[in-house]
Amino acid sequence: MKVYFIGAGPGDPELITVKGQKIIKKADLIIYAGSLVNPAVLDVAKNNSEIYDSAAMTLEEVLEKMEAAIADGKLVARVHTGDPSIYGAIQEQMDALEEKGIDYEVIPGVSSFLATAAALKREYTLPDVSQTVIVTRLEGRTSVPDKEKLHKLAKHNASMAIFLSVHMIEDVVKELAQEYPIKTPVAVVQKASWFDEKKVVGTLETIAAKVKEAEINKTAMVVVGDFLDTEYSKSKLYDKDFSHEYRKSKTGSN
Ligand SMILES: C[S@@+](CC[C@H](N)C(=O)[O-])C[C@H]1O[C@@H](n2cnc3c(N)ncnc32)[C@H](O)[C@@H]1O
Repeated sequence: MKVYFIGAGPGDPELITVKGQKIIKKADLIIYAGSLVNPAVLDVAKNNSEIYDSAAMTLEEVLEKMEAAIADGKLVARVHTGDPSIYGAIQEQMDALEEKGIDYEVIPGVSSFLATAAALKREYTLPDVSQTVIVTRLEGRTSVPDKEKLHKLAKHNASMAIFLSVHMIEDVVKELAQEYPIKTPVAVVQKASWFDEKKVVGTLETIAAKVKEAEINKTAMVVVGDFLDTEYSKSKLYDKDFSHEYRKSKTGSN
């Protein structure tokens, strides 16, 4: 038997992968990150599965539960929000399982920064605007390496998705405004893909006030960059004048 780390997706229970849901259906022990995972994701669990919310548990307690279940030949699902590789604190769990000789596998999920783009109906990587997405956070109780301070990353004027920081929106704006022009568009999406999703759109100049007015102070993504509202070049991929591996140019050029 194995421990499966599963990305539950951003909130909408239909945004978990088929593979992840299959494991939840079969799991004997489920430990989920209750502060963010939509409990509806667990509606498919067996009646007799043991379910724990890790919000009030320590790393040791989580590991003890997993170890005991595996020793009893049980299937374990460790359910994280979005994709577990992003601010999921799974490395320490995987390393501990490795040490204990317990087999595990990771099933990825739809991260909330992707659900945010979907909610806004925007593409992060517009040709001639930005071909880079920076996924980051503002320093809070968890420090951020000096080279990755927000104002340093902002130098690139790339599309940026900022996690875990909406409660410090004024500080986020202060850092970004050192490098992005003040009219750069910013959007904040709270609980992307949930039934009570909220969206606020503005610029570096206006966003902090709008976020306060909307009373958004947690579970939100701050995204910044011209991808939100700008002129851009059409993609070469579907350009009739452009040939590539799967399609010849319709006009004979390129
Ligand atoms: C501990 S991190 C976990 C991120 C998660 N692993 C992911 O891939 O989305 C929690 C932060 O993710 C963001 N977040 C999680 N779910 C969200 C959602 N549905 N909408 C917007 N932001 C969300 C918020 O910034 C929140 O503070």
